[in-house]
Amino acid sequence: MGYKDTYAAWKADPEGFWMDAARAIEWDKAPSQALFDRGNHMYEWFADGMVNTCWNAVDRHVQNGRGDQAAIIYDSPVTHTKHEITFSELQSRVASLAGALRAKGVEKGDRVIIYMPMVPEALEAMLACARLGAIHSVVFGGFASHELAVRIDDAKPKCIIAASCGIEPGRVVHYKPLLDGAIDQSSHKPDFCVIFQRDQEVAHLEEGRDVDWHAFQYGVDPADCVPVEGNHPAYILYTSGTTGQPKGVVRPTGGHLVALNWSMKNIYNVDPGDVFWAASDVGWVVGHSYITYAPLIHGNTTIVFEGKPVGTPDAGTFWRVISEHKVKSFFTAPTAFRAIKREDPKGEYVKKYDLSCLNALYLAGERADPDTIHWAKDQLGVPVIDHWWQTETGWAITGVPLGIEDMPIKIGSSGVPMPGYDVQILDEGGQAVGPDTLGAVAVKLPLPPGTLPTLWNADARFKKSYLEHFPGYYETGDAGMIDADGYLYIMARTDDVINVAGHRLSTGGMEEVLAGHPDVAECAVIGVADDLKGQLPMGFVCLTKGVNRPADEITKECVKLVRDQIGPVAAFKLCCVVDRLPKTRSGKILRATMVKIANAEEFKMPATIDDPAILDEITEALKGLGYPKA
Ligand code: COA
Ligand code: AMP
Repeated sequence: MGYKDTYAAWKADPEGFWMDAARAIEWDKAPSQALFDRGNHMYEWFADGMVNTCWNAVDRHVQNGRGDQAAIIYDSPVTHTKHEITFSELQSRVASLAGALRAKGVEKGDRVIIYMPMVPEALEAMLACARLGAIHSVVFGGFASHELAVRIDDAKPKCIIAASCGIEPGRVVHYKPLLDGAIDQSSHKPDFCVIFQRDQEVAHLEEGRDVDWHAFQYGVDPADCVPVEGNHPAYILYTSGTTGQPKGVVRPTGGHLVALNWSMKNIYNVDPGDVFWAASDVGWVVGHSYITYAPLIHGNTTIVFEGKPVGTPDAGTFWRVISEHKVKSFFTAPTAFRAIKREDPKGEYVKKYDLSCLNALYLAGERADPDTIHWAKDQLGVPVIDHWWQTETGWAITGVPLGIEDMPIKIGSSGVPMPGYDVQILDEGGQAVGPDTLGAVAVKLPLPPGTLPTLWNADARFKKSYLEHFPGYYETGDAGMIDADGYLYIMARTDDVINVAGHRLSTGGMEEVLAGHPDVAECAVIGVADDLKGQLPMGFVCLTKGVNRPADEITKECVKLVRDQIGPVAAFKLCCVVDRLPKTRSGKILRATMVKIANAEEFKMPATIDDPAILDEITEALKGLGYPKA
């Protein structure tokens, strides 16, 4: 069956389609039906089934004869380490860790925060939680104490599992002091912390609170898998929304297993036993779905890569990893390719490696610019698939499902809707528009298995953020259009989310931080175009009356404040002082106009602007920051 028939088969009988896909999962009790309509546009999948994620990702493969196959290949150019962990080894390591967590009181439904770099132990921690039915929440290592504290207060974890340190090129990231700082700041305190001591830095353990990863496993009984309901939350992953308060996306267990397993063959075209590599980080949704869960659930070998596309040690690292470990399908963010292309435009490093194992490259996380796609395609000689999804969905909304059909790829488009997603372009009034017309991208409810049923402890925020604007639809927050062949083109965000090097950030969140500076009366943060990272945040601050300290002193403090509060990942380095911000007569800051000026794009003078002269002042300030770029 080709794509069109598969999509039509889903549309004709969604219940049958997903029940069929669910048969590939080993249930302790099979679900009696797929979709559960909870009223008011709230849905759940496979709610009355009983299942365990760790069993499906690890134990069943051992039982079915894959025990000696590598489950994880750890390749860390930053520590000069490489090793493999088989499914059998993974089973005993995870069972032991889960046993130790259980011995200290972690049970089904308890939350566990994981704050770790790209080491196999991060995956083991996630799987150990899944084994017990505990709900993990992984926090990306590039976030600072304050962001971690906000997540601790929202998730209220019984335990936090952290590494002593992370390794960024040229510096050691001291995780433990960041963790201690976060626990000092948070109102909720975990019962205990498990610290994985790395060779590069051994952290101080807090007597009575912190335990050593190895020592606390000594002498405990390994834990068996605890079956949980299909609608039990597998994890919470916080993502940027329109305020400094991140949204806790809930991932339900049953739908997650079914959808991810389905995606591995149909979208990524790999069979059990193949090596799959997503060069991302376990702190992001790509890492959750395609470093940890999907490959393992499907019986693939996954690669845990601790390094960067360039500089660790060179722009050939990706090609070395692909060729050395025989990667069949490779997934990363376009920014990684832009970084490589900038250092090695002619692809000299590509030529050094035998990449005949590679079948396809998948890009997501941000818009893939056609130049980058062409370069990647020319260098690698394999199909380059741009596919579009979000933390909220956990797997692709649109893409080119090579496992179903070798269908045409349109450069600039992120492909066609996957079964389960009825994607529509809506005008402001919520009416569907015709082909090639720009509008809000929305998905008709219900969303498919694996997607978010709600936000953690925040049903009302879930409804307000995603369901209220277009009744009957999930609002994606992206704007775009669909062509006559059904291919989607994502053009922009409709909210304040920006995408910096494939990392999703909220400019509203950064404004909240800047507003906290004692000398800042008012501020605006916008996302400006950047050749490497896609977008960069840029701040404009107006000072409180009477402040007459040097502007560059204040902007330096602003940059430090964002780095300290949100973290280095915000990449907030551009900031200037202005007298006034451009506004509408009703007082709304004209951020979109400021973005256009910074990007040297044409713009119409907003009819509602209060004082057009302020735009000249903004233009001057931008010049000071070197914008627009030549
Ligand atoms: N822990 C601590 N700090 C981290 C971190 C982590 N896990 N990841 C990034 N940082 C820091 C970086 O060291 C950098 O700090 P600096 O300001 O002191 O230099 C800062 O956060 C910004 O990082 P980043 O935006 O990643 O920029 P970079 O210059 O280090 O690297 C790229 C640029 C393009 C090479 C890099 O962004 C990349 O590989 N991107 C891939 C994107 C990706 O995996 N996205 C996930 C979704 S698919
Ligand atoms: P995240 O939740 O971090 O995965 O970010 C999701 C957002 O990133 C989407 O809503 C888009 O704005 C953007 N995004 C992800 N993939 C793509 C893509 N293939 N093309 C364009 N934008 C994308």
